[in-house]
Amino acid sequence: MDPTFHLGDCLDVLRELEPLNADLAYLDPPFGMGRTMEGRDGASFEDLLDDSDAYMEFMRPRIEVVLHHLHPNGSILLHCDWRQVHHLRLLLDELLGSKAFVNQLVWKYGLGGSSPRRFARKHDDILFYAKGQEYFFEAPMVPATSQRLKGKMKKATDVLDIPSINNMAHERNGWPTQKPIALLELLVKACCPEGGMVIDPFCGSGTTVVAARKNRRRGIGIDQSEQALKIAGDRIDALQSLSESV
Ligand SMILES: C[S@@+](CC[C@H](N)C(=O)[O-])C[C@H]1O[C@@H](n2cnc3c(N)ncnc32)[C@H](O)[C@@H]1O
Repeated sequence: MDPTFHLGDCLDVLRELEPLNADLAYLDPPFGMGRTMEGRDGASFEDLLDDSDAYMEFMRPRIEVVLHHLHPNGSILLHCDWRQVHHLRLLLDELLGSKAFVNQLVWKYGLGGSSPRRFARKHDDILFYAKGQEYFFEAPMVPATSQRLKGKMKKATDVLDIPSINNMAHERNGWPTQKPIALLELLVKACCPEGGMVIDPFCGSGTTVVAARKNRRRGIGIDQSEQALKIAGDRIDALQSLSESV
């Protein structure tokens, strides 16, 4: 059995591994911000490729190798934002065919500033593509907001309204751009069957792997930062001790 976490450039790591046949790949790569992303206690990673050509040169081989590790009916969720979403969507159309497109999910979050020059940017994009037609999907149920359905649950739409992690939140682990566990649990349960496998080649502090473990899926994470994988490993250990104590 492969270890849960691998340290290194995901391109090299995934080229070395035997095919994983994963049910789901969730990718949360650097977004092409053009700066170093800083968290707590010196935790940081470089997100310097703000030129689209250079960014796509970085992403193309990494997405290709991820697709190689997907089951023929596996799915990919590619987390990005307004900077590169249009380029990434064309790349996935090219690599998988435009019929493989399932959704352009919007993760709507609250935090962040505003600008007098434009509408405030308050969402990320998550591109959902399926490698084969028999892909797994179980619609998540979320609280209904309309007056008519008040107090009931309804199937989630392609707009996921989940708060980002504020600076004081207990959940915050210090890794920059950490994603909320609620977002990852929703995505993993919707797009990977129970007992299945999720891979995250830019796993950072391991949110996807934690979400997978909590929901009886297997998770494999890769990151080039030792510090990120230390946080990720500690999170998995904490989860393990919690499950042993009940
Ligand atoms: C947006 S963060 C991921 C955050 C993560 N989803 C979380 O919840 O903590 C992107 C991650 O990609 C990692 N990274 C950047 N280039 C990489 C590469 N070539 N291979 C593997 N990891 C890489 C960075 O170290 C960083 O942790």
